[in-house]
Amino acid sequence: MRMTQIRTRSDKTEDIYSYMDMLDLFPEKVENYDEKLKRFYTEHIHGDEEIRYCLKGSDRWFEQARDRMGSESKDPREEVIQAWYMDDSDADQRLPHHRDPQEFVSFEKLDELGVLSWRLDADNYETDPELKKIREDRGYSYMDFCEVCPEKLPNYEEKIKNFYEEHLHTDEEIRYCVAGSGYFDVRDRDEAWIRVWVKKGAMIVLPAGIYHRFTLDSDNYIKAMRLFVGDPVWTPFNRPHDHLPARQEYVDNFVNKAGCGPAVDATAA
Ligand SMILES: [Fe+2]
Repeated sequence: MRMTQIRTRSDKTEDIYSYMDMLDLFPEKVENYDEKLKRFYTEHIHGDEEIRYCLKGSDRWFEQARDRMGSESKDPREEVIQAWYMDDSDADQRLPHHRDPQEFVSFEKLDELGVLSWRLDADNYETDPELKKIREDRGYSYMDFCEVCPEKLPNYEEKIKNFYEEHLHTDEEIRYCVAGSGYFDVRDRDEAWIRVWVKKGAMIVLPAGIYHRFTLDSDNYIKAMRLFVGDPVWTPFNRPHDHLPARQEYVDNFVNKAGCGPAVDATAA
């Protein structure tokens, strides 16, 4: 292995790092492993440089370490929501359409596009205080359910086709998956498609004016709670509808804003 770009401080010579030892961080080799791991993961600074040269190991180790630390350090949404950049294939829309290699998208990146999400208790949505609070805070006075599957949705094929037409709404699209799963595809700032996979317990809000589409996945079933502020308006405006004030507002607030972070793995696995 070749080491490149070793930097030295201008007022020091290259032998500044006079001390060296090895740290083999592995459950079997370190005493009080979990405790130490927790300490390493606590945000901190040092009065001197921290210099590490990784001779062996990988990010997979970090994932395992994070899992060992338990749910307190893990975003609960990761188990019910995953997002990734889509490939350009014309294959069945119900397939995952991962790129090769896979490019996952973080919750932070979705947030920057105005896409909000929560993980809720789908088995107890009638009494869930968290859902109640979200509805109160965001004014979601209307609620109904939509079940999408060949057996229960009249004109299923036609509707599925319509859902997958790229469109926008002049209000938020709020969906809470209480059973099954499905894909919401949203455009990022560079017009690339991000596929957001929602499973039971996932609630997402697509902001007014974002171009998007929906499809079932290969399980062919979702039951979603639909929420709305006031009387619901489900009208889709198929692309292009760039002149609508809701679109212009979205572009001003989310597309033209700087500081879009890099895509990182936001999955549990
Ligand atoms: Fe929509």
